[in-house]
Amino acid sequence: MKAVVLHELGEPEKLNVENVAEPEPKEGEVVVQLHAAALNRRDVWIRRGRYANIKLPIILGSDGAGIVTATGNGVNASLVGKEVLINPCLAWGGDERVQDNNFRILGLPDNGTYANYVAVPGENIYEKPGNLSWEEAAAIPLAGLTAYRAVISRADVQSGQTVLITGIGGGVACFALQIARKAGARVFVTSGSDKKIDRARELGAEDGVNYKNDNWRQKLKEISGESGIDVVVDGTGGENFDAILDVAKPGGTIVMYGATLGPSDNVTVRRIFWKQLNIFGTTMGSPSDFEKMLELYSSDTIKPVIDSVMPLADAAKAHHRMEDAEQFGKLVLGIEP
Ligand SMILES: NC(=O)c1ccc[n+]([C@@H]2O[C@H](COP(=O)([O-])OP(=O)(O)OC[C@H]3O[C@@H](n4cnc5c(N)ncnc54)[C@H](OP(=O)(O)O)[C@@H]3O)[C@@H](O)[C@H]2O)c1
Repeated sequence: MKAVVLHELGEPEKLNVENVAEPEPKEGEVVVQLHAAALNRRDVWIRRGRYANIKLPIILGSDGAGIVTATGNGVNASLVGKEVLINPCLAWGGDERVQDNNFRILGLPDNGTYANYVAVPGENIYEKPGNLSWEEAAAIPLAGLTAYRAVISRADVQSGQTVLITGIGGGVACFALQIARKAGARVFVTSGSDKKIDRARELGAEDGVNYKNDNWRQKLKEISGESGIDVVVDGTGGENFDAILDVAKPGGTIVMYGATLGPSDNVTVRRIFWKQLNIFGTTMGSPSDFEKMLELYSSDTIKPVIDSVMPLADAAKAHHRMEDAEQFGKLVLGIEP
């Protein structure tokens, strides 16, 4: 089969298509012939060597949708031929509050979806909703799950609340916007691009500020008005963390799913206790989060936001687009069967 195999860490050009053996299903597994895969920032971190426990060579990719072609022992053989998408959250475990020690994400250490075929546990496949194209189905899993758990399961966003979503061009951020709107929240965004703020308005955001402007914190306080910000959904961390503590209203909630900007060394800790803030961390989500998220995208009322679809052979180009923050929504790889 064709697959993009990472042999060496480095620039996007390390991602090239080559011929490798098709995976065989082990006990409890199915093999899925992929029609589309999607990128996540995680893939970039791994390629650049900025991820824990990297093993090489590896086929990257956590997101995928396709048709089941084989089943291993212990899996119902009638699944062969089913159109599915993959929950990349492997071995979450039995605790809704936190993932198990054996938890891992498809695409490292297990080979992922930048390929014609992938082997995954049978319990991680879900019927592809009929209203979604292959590309849309592949765009959803990792980012949709992360956003759902952040906005609903952790922050418990309610109708009428004000929600700030940072870096709206990001894959998770776009899902968070849709899910928060669906919950009836008033959404504000930040972005490094005015055009992306306009796109966010089209998706239902009330307003936004460009984080490249020096006075963005002040501007955000102005546009959110007297109600302030009830919930901040953030995947950037770094120097933004203190700004987020500043813009959240007293008694507000901050839910963190990532740290694209790295660690933070200028946190005004006083803001956390004086403002009685709730700070939640979140990672991926449980099978129950996944099912509830998928239900949202199984109706025609919301569709995942796709930035672009490129062929598998253009994985390097797609990685460049992500690293340069050019995208709005998900970068998808179309895979010729
Ligand atoms: N915990 C988990 O389970 C989990 C799951 C998924 C992702 N993550 C992490 O969450 C982060 C986002 O992931 P993703 O896949 O959504 O990435 P992505 O699609 O690459 O989005 C990253 C976005 O960050 C924004 N950004 C960059 N600099 C910023 C700044 N100074 N202030 C505000 N926003 C800024 C940009 O938004 P604009 O383009 O609008 O400027 C960019 O599009 C990554 O660090 C990833 O590793 C964690």
